[in-house]
Amino acid sequence: MKIANIVGARPQFIKLAPLSSEIREDFEEVIIHTGQHYDVNMSRSFFETLQIPKPDYNLEVGSGSQSAQTGKMLKRIEDVLSYEQPDLVIVYGDTNSTLAGAISSSKSHIPVGHMEAGLRSFNRQMPEEINRICTDKVSKYLFCPTPTAIDNLQSEGIERGIFLIGDLMFEALKKNIQIARQNSSILENLNVKDNDFCLLTIHRAENTNCKERLKSIIAAFEEIDREIIFPAHPRFQKYLHKYKLDAQLPDNIRLIDPVDYLDILILQENAEVIFTDSGGMQKEALWLKTPCITLRDETEWIELIQLETNTLVGADTEKIIDNYKKMKDLTEFQIPDYYEFDFQKFKSLVS
Ligand code: UD1
Repeated sequence: MKIANIVGARPQFIKLAPLSSEIREDFEEVIIHTGQHYDVNMSRSFFETLQIPKPDYNLEVGSGSQSAQTGKMLKRIEDVLSYEQPDLVIVYGDTNSTLAGAISSSKSHIPVGHMEAGLRSFNRQMPEEINRICTDKVSKYLFCPTPTAIDNLQSEGIERGIFLIGDLMFEALKKNIQIARQNSSILENLNVKDNDFCLLTIHRAENTNCKERLKSIIAAFEEIDREIIFPAHPRFQKYLHKYKLDAQLPDNIRLIDPVDYLDILILQENAEVIFTDSGGMQKEALWLKTPCITLRDETEWIELIQLETNTLVGADTEKIIDNYKKMKDLTEFQIPDYYEFDFQKFKSLVS
């Protein structure tokens, strides 16, 4: 049996790593990289650190508008699938690479398995929400990471192919945190210590592409008496210059280039508080027992809000400051069992 993995963006490389090594034990594997992320520190460094085999194909689609990028991928994925003829395609998460992979495969009559199925923000302005909904509709196997994801699919009338399977990012983290603690020198390099800094990331279009939201978020850090380490996604850098906000960045924010997976784990584990609009980091914050303040109006991971380790503040300056004060001394972090990924269940379902 041949399984093709389609990936393209940073969080997908992390999800692919633990599954890829299991797939290779029992099946033939093909890795198709769409080329959505192409900078070395957004792509190749993840393959090296996570010891993922070099992709069999790199489709080099690069940047573009939502539809242009997705369209280019559709055509190029179709060509590879028609040559490789896999028995199953696995797609991950909610990016344009996920959507293109799912549509190309299902139109080529190849069954699709969607990892992280059923997540919803209920905000259709987000490109990721459209990607999730469409991918779930055409997938044969809906691999859900949380009970909420199952409820979401059922309430959309999907009845078959839904499985609670766990979270691949949890497995990647468990496997790599010890290695990170031994090998990462990011704290020394940045000259920061446990709990004496906060970590910030902003990359979602709803934040980066809106001047008012960006201004309002960065203004909050004037009032937070901590050094703020900010590994900046290229899209943030681009819009910061475009909106001429460089000069308004408070002095305590330290912009650095995106860091590799081991370093981001260490930064998250040692930060006093994480401020982010990333989906993956909200969960990693819980698993690493660091309070998280989410710079969005909604989240797909509502269990984190219920567990009270994460709080939603949107782009509101005052809410960011108030919640920092409330969250920074949090000590209770309960990790639900359902995050454990069931590899045996995956193998027996797809065989
Ligand atoms: C994508 C996903 C998002 C995911 C994120 C992880 C979609 C719609 N969004 O967003 O769900 O959380 O990846 O990072 O698929 N760029 C570079 N170098 C790179 C990659 C991107 O410079 O290696 C720049 C380009 O100018 C590009 C911009 O970043 O226009 C945005 O990249 P894009 O591929 O649109 O998606 P992300 O914002 O990274």
